[in-house]
Amino acid sequence: MLVCGALAVSAQTKVTLNTDLAKTQISKHIYGHFAEHLGKCIYGGMYVGEGNTKIPNTAGVRNDVIQALRDLKVPNLRWPGGCFADAYQWKDGIGPKANRPKMVNIWWGGVTEDNSFGTHDFLDMCERIGAEPYLAGNVGSGTVKDLADWVTYVNHPAGSPMSELRKKNGREMPWNVKLWGVGNEAWGCGGNMTAEYYSNIYRQYATFMSDHKDAKLYKIASGASDGQYDWTETLMKNIPHHMMQGVALHHYSVLSWGDKGPSVSFSEAQYFKTMDEAWKMDEFIKGHSTIMDKYDPAKKVALIVDEWGGWYNVEEGTNPGFLYQQNTMRDAMIAGLTLNIFNNHADRVKGANLAQIVNVLQAVILTNEEKMLLTPTYHVMKMYNVHQDAKLIPIDIEAPSYEFNGKKLTAVSVSASKDAQNAVNISLTNIDYSKAHEVTINLRGEDFSKVSGQILASSKISDHNTFDQPNKVSIKDFSGAKLEKGVLKLTLPAYSVVVLKVIK
Ligand code: AHR
Repeated sequence: MLVCGALAVSAQTKVTLNTDLAKTQISKHIYGHFAEHLGKCIYGGMYVGEGNTKIPNTAGVRNDVIQALRDLKVPNLRWPGGCFADAYQWKDGIGPKANRPKMVNIWWGGVTEDNSFGTHDFLDMCERIGAEPYLAGNVGSGTVKDLADWVTYVNHPAGSPMSELRKKNGREMPWNVKLWGVGNEAWGCGGNMTAEYYSNIYRQYATFMSDHKDAKLYKIASGASDGQYDWTETLMKNIPHHMMQGVALHHYSVLSWGDKGPSVSFSEAQYFKTMDEAWKMDEFIKGHSTIMDKYDPAKKVALIVDEWGGWYNVEEGTNPGFLYQQNTMRDAMIAGLTLNIFNNHADRVKGANLAQIVNVLQAVILTNEEKMLLTPTYHVMKMYNVHQDAKLIPIDIEAPSYEFNGKKLTAVSVSASKDAQNAVNISLTNIDYSKAHEVTINLRGEDFSKVSGQILASSKISDHNTFDQPNKVSIKDFSGAKLEKGVLKLTLPAYSVVVLKVIK
């Protein structure tokens, strides 16, 4: 180990990029997001109401949020839950707002849901953001007919009772929603079902979710949590694969389901445990993929990680049911590492949704009345969006460890892709709490001539953006990568994310 001033530099990370073998597409849907009727995600965070004169909005949706999400290139947005999805009655969220029935949000704080943000509001908002909607259907407490009607309402062009109702409510053309979840966490808040029972229910609900003219449905089964491999195995065995385009997986980086620890003033022990949980995403994807390979060697059914992210105790003084937490450089590490894992499993992982988009869990945006800020996680997702729909470059990597109390984690993670212009984008995340790491990237003789880059780094791991200091953590240009004879060399500071672009 070299020590230069306060900066300890550890053993080398050696990466080889097999650019000539780039073949598998990294689906842009790996970069998806999730918006639930939970705390201030929808109400206050995204939707402030049509009559709001204080916060500039379009049809009630904050203009600042729309712009930030357009800039982020959000490929898809999952809604309305989460646990809320299996309690949601979509027909209560259409038609004149004054007439919409109210309900109690039993999962999140017991607050009254007035249904003022419903199907039209969500799907129109997705159009403004440029994101594909991903609707999570109610299987836990709704009927087969309710879900079949929802599909027809949003997708059938004309001439059916549901399409006529949609038109009466102001929308002539269907939205052609392709992405559908058939329930959520069916083993838990979605109905406490067994895998066998859910498989049968899935077959029944999915049968009546029909394709319409321009919308061939992509149906996603409610999947396992973490290493619940028997769930995946039962679904893969019992559900005909032509009825199921994806199986979900949820994994949160949480210290424990009791005390989840603080979002900002965490110790190194808590940081290490969070990183350990983040790395487990790789183990879970491998485990579930192995089972899927057994039943589906051609990889026709995708693994969709439609909930992931860091989960901590709520901020002091906030409603415990609202899951509001700050977002620091630790969250940037979870994001950089997890997105590298997803990219490197692009053959099976075809979609993922960070939980959640605004004001809830590992949010990319926080709001406070008319103020808005972008979190470190937002910046990582923005830096990484160069990988969307690009070709994955297989890599070989030898990386040093980040050690704490005798335990070890791989410190540096890397993924790379080739875009439509043949530029190579390489994302690197160093989760080490205190050491910088030198990295050598061998481009295997390819004659690249120019490298440019961006970095997200900050002086403290707990650094975050506040409404008074919204740009404390922000993306900077990075000129520290040197390209010589087909080899790139750089030093990654402790807890930093770097994305490099190499061109010929
Ligand atoms: O994202 C918060 C909750 O976590 C979701 O509603 C649920 O699906 C999961 O348990």
